[in-house]
Amino acid sequence: MSKPAEAKLWGGRFTGATDPLMDLYNASLPYDKIMYDVDLTGTKVYTEGLNKLGLINDDELKKIHEGLEVVREEWKHNQFVEKPGDEDIHTANERRLGEIIGKHIAGKVHTGRSRNDQVATDMRLHVRARLTKILEFLKNFITAIIKRAEAEIDVLMPGYTHLQRAQPIRWAHWLSMYATYFSEDYKRLQQIIERLNKSPLGAGALAGHPYGIDREFLAQQLGFEGVIGNSLAAVSDRDFVVETLFWSSLFMNHISRFSEDLIIYSSAEFGFVQLADAYSTGSSLMPQKKNPDSLELLRGKSGRVFGAMSGFMMSLKSIPSTYNKDMQEDKEPLYDALTTTEHSILIAIGVISTLNINKEKMEGALTMDMLATDLADYLVRKGVPFRETHHISGECVRVAEELKLSGIDQLTLEQLQKIDSRFGDDVLNTFDFEASVERRTAIGGTAKSAVLKQLASLISELQ
Ligand code: ARG
Repeated sequence: MSKPAEAKLWGGRFTGATDPLMDLYNASLPYDKIMYDVDLTGTKVYTEGLNKLGLINDDELKKIHEGLEVVREEWKHNQFVEKPGDEDIHTANERRLGEIIGKHIAGKVHTGRSRNDQVATDMRLHVRARLTKILEFLKNFITAIIKRAEAEIDVLMPGYTHLQRAQPIRWAHWLSMYATYFSEDYKRLQQIIERLNKSPLGAGALAGHPYGIDREFLAQQLGFEGVIGNSLAAVSDRDFVVETLFWSSLFMNHISRFSEDLIIYSSAEFGFVQLADAYSTGSSLMPQKKNPDSLELLRGKSGRVFGAMSGFMMSLKSIPSTYNKDMQEDKEPLYDALTTTEHSILIAIGVISTLNINKEKMEGALTMDMLATDLADYLVRKGVPFRETHHISGECVRVAEELKLSGIDQLTLEQLQKIDSRFGDDVLNTFDFEASVERRTAIGGTAKSAVLKQLASLISELQ
């Protein structure tokens, strides 16, 4: 016999029944009702499996299915009445089914099933649906980036390393860089969906199904590609949640870098891009301000998604086999990360399809020192080793600076030849941004032909 609650140091608020606070603490219905639909579908299919075993007759199956559809309609139209004992979506749905078709029949649906294989099934179905939707969003995002790149293929801008002007590139090349990142995210997501699409249903609480249910039939009915081959793993595996959280974190990391670039480019100091009003806000104090809040939120929310991943990793790391209630902690971070990711993609699509670019500002930011490498390459083409040409070009930059010229292109042929006699009069062709960009025709480069090839291959990967 356990001691009366009053006898315990901390027992002041105990009444013998569960502490009402414990009920609240334990309940997942407030957030897991988001899975009502897949939970009902899972039960529908599961009872078909029981029917095949003769554990539920045809008439009972029909009543169960009709009852489950009534419950579905109630949820759908916000008419489902939650009751105090409804711990989670699984118990709530079963309780309600019993009220509709009678407890005698409803009491059979859970035969051989546990909430352990049930929740694992629901989660996989839910995540599969959400990720499939995200895949579609992502495709639209990548397409929007590619469209923009194709339309603005002729615009040049500085490419940066260390946030210092480095070499001229095409704006479309910058866009194509992010399309490349997001296209890897796209492929990674396809792999995650494929990997999680295995059925835990019919694993029971942990040890397996006592009536020999046809797990492959259940899997097939639910659109899974096969079953998880170990019942203990089936109920305890939440790696698909971790993978989803990791995927979202990495994707949001990419979105964050993309946003950071655009925030910098939208500042008055750069002025390369201007956000549409729809994705900016003003300041309550400074009338002149137009802030890139959409991009700042995209950048900021990446931290939140990463937090969801690291938090759940910590919840998961020491859980002994098999199901433990810690696993219920998979839900809130997962749902939050998915919602944040979905919204972020939609906002990012809006931002990239509506912003204006300022071609003059972009091209005006190109400076002749950015062609110093091209000057070195000029001599390479005359047979001089690159290590040597690098020095010579550096000297040209120094001399131009000493002479207070606006750039290396202002050096006369005589001045250049004084530095190195191998400079010919064709060297003046070097000082041309378009020509510099157009020399980079090798795969992945910034020449128009190379960028167009990148875009074409990104499009074909999306098919
Ligand atoms: N609400 C629970 C969860 O999300 C369902 C599984 C409960 N299983 C159990 N053995 N208590 O994890």
